[in-house]
Amino acid sequence: MQFFTSLLIFSLPLPLLLAASTVHAGEVTLGTDAQRAAGKENYQKYCAQCHGAEGDGSGIATPFFNPLPRDFTSATYKIRTTESGELPTDADLKNIILEGMPYTGMPGWPQFDDEELMELVFYIKTFAEDFADPDAIVAALEIPEAPPFSSESAESGKTVYEENKCMECHGLYGRGDGEKATTLTTDAGDPIRPADLTKRWTFRGGPTREDIYRTFTTGMDGTPMPSYADFIEEEARWQLVDYVYSLSRETANYSDVIFARAVEEEIDLDSPEIVALFGDEAAFIPVVGQVIEAEREFFPSANAIGVRVIYNDDTVAMLLNWHDMAAEDSGTASPIKGDIQTTSDAVAVQLPSEPSHGQTRPYFLHGDSQNSVNLWFADLANELSNDGARLFIGKGSQNVMAVEGSEGVIEAVSSFADGEWTVIFKRDRASDNALVFEEGQFLPIAFSVWDGFHQEQGNRRGITSWVNMYIAPRETQSFIGPMLRVGLLVLLIEVLLIAWVRRKYKRTPG
Ligand code: HEC
Ligand code: HEC
Repeated sequence: MQFFTSLLIFSLPLPLLLAASTVHAGEVTLGTDAQRAAGKENYQKYCAQCHGAEGDGSGIATPFFNPLPRDFTSATYKIRTTESGELPTDADLKNIILEGMPYTGMPGWPQFDDEELMELVFYIKTFAEDFADPDAIVAALEIPEAPPFSSESAESGKTVYEENKCMECHGLYGRGDGEKATTLTTDAGDPIRPADLTKRWTFRGGPTREDIYRTFTTGMDGTPMPSYADFIEEEARWQLVDYVYSLSRETANYSDVIFARAVEEEIDLDSPEIVALFGDEAAFIPVVGQVIEAEREFFPSANAIGVRVIYNDDTVAMLLNWHDMAAEDSGTASPIKGDIQTTSDAVAVQLPSEPSHGQTRPYFLHGDSQNSVNLWFADLANELSNDGARLFIGKGSQNVMAVEGSEGVIEAVSSFADGEWTVIFKRDRASDNALVFEEGQFLPIAFSVWDGFHQEQGNRRGITSWVNMYIAPRETQSFIGPMLRVGLLVLLIEVLLIAWVRRKYKRTPG
């Protein structure tokens, strides 16, 4: 009998099938006892450490996350196809469990099949009574199929963005630096940052144009991200989607190699042309929290740093960019853990103090006793002057000190505009106090970023792992000349060979 039913189902056209399985508004779907029991088993195994055994968001791992794991008893969900303030659909829940929420503690669960995902959905719905109330159940809004992206539409979307004051939170260029950015809290009263719209791979609810449409149409419940369902016309919505889409590149495209490029020009930090000298191409490196040693930082403000390096005969310079809600340019910063009361923004470049021998690299957290590191440190407070940039030596994070007599070895300038820090460091290629930069060299390099607003200082900071910097030699030898020569030689030999073979086996008539 079962065999025949499934045969029947498989022979139905897809739209009919979908229609048959659509849940109508008001229909309570809690699954069977067996389904909820199966869901409970997986939940206790895989979800409880974060969401709590009772679903109230108080698992053993909960305090380490920002945003916090959801309290399911609140029945508040960010990613929904239903109107603001309404319960999500089963499909919404199933989807978010499968996909996870990027750049939060919520992992995706591709190992579960459809059946297992539904069992989990049925189980987490038992934590809030609303799901059992037919009056609380609503249908999903229809999210139309996206028209093709066009840059004209994105251009019009900029006006929609401005008219609807998205920049009050997200900033003019979407870098998460609007004037309200530093004041926002969740409904539970925890601080929350507006999304950085220039990095759509970090969106909790997915990066597609349909996802963006859904986000501002239904809002993100429990957060200050509003629903604009009643304010934006259908046509303007896709324009707004295209504008938001146009603010970000496709993927993060992180690199683990930085190419230092030779320039002919003088490298003068005071020149108005200095930024342009670095060109457009930055290596984009992920920043994560320092969670290995004490004073851990699980969710630093910065999640990536862009790096460009240039050099000429005697100087090497690096341009660093990262996004920040606001500049904390008062207070003080130090790579050494101190009892600083007001923290400012700061950044450091980390390099080995000596060329590495073979594969040994200093320990990535400010070096170790055998292999020390140099830190080019810039406290970004108060119109960074030259003594805001200092050379430090690190033999482990508990053993960092300023290098005596190194004043002026590192120079830096900084600026903050529209949610982005730009810091340029400069140093002589040769130095008594530190490593010499040679062409053709591969050097390990790492970065630290401190956000003063987030009270980051000392070990509490965003870090990158070691990446490689390649100092591309100026005189790159052209391969074309030698390749041509070899090619011609081979051709000549072949021609001779053929001629010889022909001659030898030439059939003589008769
Ligand atoms: C390592 C911690 C962790 C684990 C394990 C985890 N979650 Fe989460 N989960 C989170 C965090 C953190 C959030 C909140 C993210 C946010 O608000 O942006 C979340 C949010 C959610 C949400 C809310 C989605 C929304 O739209 O608001 C659901 C549903 C969810 N988790 C289900 C699960 C299920 C089911 C499991 C087990 C299969 C699970 N989670 C395991 C950390 C975790
Ligand atoms: C009052 C402040 C505020 C305003 C105004 C606002 N947003 Fe947001 N928005 C937020 C916050 C906060 C988040 C982050 C929510 C989170 O991480 O859970 C967010 C997140 C987003 C996201 C990312 C969604 C995801 O899946 O992570 C997009 C896209 C977005 N907003 C678009 C917009 C657009 C477009 C507008 C204007 C129509 C707008 N926002 C207006 C506060 C705001």
